[in-house]
Parts: sequence; structure tokens; C-alpha cells
Amino acid sequence: MSSSRYFRAEIRENRPLNGNHNLLTLANLDPMREPQPGQFYMLQVSKGSDPLLKRAFSLFRRTPEGIQILYRIKGKGTSILRDMKEGAALDLLGPLGNGYPMPSDDQSPLVIAGGIGIASVFSLVEKLSKKAFVFYGARLEEELFMTDELGKIYKELVVCTDDGSCGVRGTVVDVLHDFVKNRDGIQRPVIYACGPHVMLAAIAKAAEAYSIKAYASLEEHMACGVGACLGCAVKTTSGYKRVCKEGPVFDSQEIVWQP
Ligand SMILES: Cc1cc2nc3c(=O)[nH]c(=O)nc-3n(C[C@H](O)[C@H](O)[C@H](O)COP(=O)(O)OP(=O)(O)OC[C@H]3O[C@@H](n4cnc5c(N)ncnc54)[C@H](O)[C@@H]3O)c2cc1C
Ligand code: FES
Repeated sequence: MSSSRYFRAEIRENRPLNGNHNLLTLANLDPMREPQPGQFYMLQVSKGSDPLLKRAFSLFRRTPEGIQILYRIKGKGTSILRDMKEGAALDLLGPLGNGYPMPSDDQSPLVIAGGIGIASVFSLVEKLSKKAFVFYGARLEEELFMTDELGKIYKELVVCTDDGSCGVRGTVVDVLHDFVKNRDGIQRPVIYACGPHVMLAAIAKAAEAYSIKAYASLEEHMACGVGACLGCAVKTTSGYKRVCKEGPVFDSQEIVWQP
């Protein structure tokens, strides 16, 4: 195993999935550590100083070709990334942070993804090898990604969209409530969730009400990614914690959810 978390990687593919989401495949040029589901990388998207800071992206999936990252084109950094071509080299730092704790054999994993949150949980679903009940929501059908690939690895999938254009009309939180109320015989459920802050807060509330253990992966603005700048600190029941170092995955009851 490499002792450093810095490595260079070459772009094998930077595939557009729709107008503003790409799937990036990176083959490492230096030795790299094996990532765990829920961990993330800091990517240097520019050789110069603009933008200076690295950008954070979850491990989407590990393939024989390299690591994959599913990203939404949002601002300057991700627009630069979108324009990068096959063969270009990138500096990375990672894998970083603590991933998802695996369930025990007698637990039933409920994996919940909202929008680009699928990028963080996909490799978890894969690792759970057909044990996961997956609830995947997006605003529109065009923003549901890799559902064919998901089809090969889940136990059950419920898809939902805000406008009902695909699957159930509603949110993953509605789906969670229905599932818990109507499904008998689900043994010791445990929730794994990634998505918008409001979604995670609602899941934490539901999990508490149903006495279900829930893990949430948080996104915060990050500068260093390694615990040095405190820029990503969030309020927890035991003081402030750094999302990059103590997270990004937290027990949802540990977080002081703020509107
Ligand atoms: C642990 C972690 C994992 C992430 N995984 C993914 C992923 O797998 N796919 C994906 O598309 N996005 C992911 N994000 C969000 C991604 O980091 C931001 O969308 C990206 O940094 C935006 O950069 P930009 O320059 O294009 O946008 P700009 O808005 O121009 O960025 C300006 C600054 O804001 C920060 N920033 C903007 N949006 C976010 C955000 N949502 N979260 C944190 N910082 C932000 C940037 O890092 C940068 O410092 C993740 C964020 C974190 C913290
Ligand atoms: S990003 Fe610097 S401490 Fe987390």
C-alpha cells in the first residue's frame, strides 16, 4: 500500500451523462490506496492558481480501469473538469475521510440517495452485493443516473421524482415513511443516506422517530480536505467536528441539524 495519499491519475474517460453531469474515469499513474465506499478525493482541477483550491468528490465506483467520479457541473472548478480530455493528468489527494460502516449480517441496509448523492452511495450498494433496499430520488427523470448499472446490484429499488416523470411522485423521505410503515419482516433496518441537507435532516428526524440507526454523508465547503483549516466544521452533540476528517459519514443523531 502506498503511504502517501497524493497521486497522479490520467483521464481515461470524461463521459457526459446529460447537459450538466459527467462520469470521469481516472487511472492512477502512481501507487494509490484502495478506497472504501463513502470516502472522497480532493482533485486539483487546474495547474495554475485559478482555482487554487482542490475540489471534493466522492468515490463513485472502483473499476479495473481505475476510480470513477460522478460529478455535477456547478461552477468554475467543475467546468474546467468537464473540458478536460482523455489522456490529461490530474493531481489527487485521497481517499479521505471515514466511509460507511458496513451493516452486520442480520441488518437490512436501506440506502437513500437524493440527486448527486448517488455518487457517494453507489459503491456501497455494490459492496452490499444485492442486500440493499435502494431509494433513489431526483427532481426529474433526466437526473437519475446509472439506473441500469444499479439494476445489477440492488435487492430492491424504488425510484422517485419530484414531478412523477419517473417512478413514484414524491421524495425519498416519503418513500422511506411508506416503506417503514408498510413493510413487515424487514429485519433490523439501518439507513445510509447522501443528498441535500434538507433531505438528510428529514431522514434523521424520521430515523429517530422509528428508532432506526442512520448514517448520513455530509457535504461542506472544503479548503484543505485533511483536517487542517477547520473550514468544514459542523455542529454535533459533542462540539464541532470536521466533515473531512471525522466525517463525511456521521451517525445522523450526532449532527445538530440546522435549517
Ligand atoms: C465530501 C464531499 C464529496 C462530494 N462529492 C461530490 C460528488 O461525488 N459529485 C459532485 O458533483 N459533487 C460532489 N461534491 C460537491 C463538489 O465538491 C462541489 O460541487 C464542487 O466543489 C463545486 O466546485 P465548482 O468550482 O464547480 O463550484 P463553485 O461553486 O464555483 O465553487 C466555489 C467553492 O465552493 C465550494 N463548493 C461549491 N459547492 C459545494 C458543495 N456542494 N459542497 C462543498 N463545497 C462546495 C468549492 O469547493 C469551491 O471552494 C462533494 C463535496 C464534498 C464536501
Ligand atoms: S476542509 Fe480543512 S479542515 Fe476540513
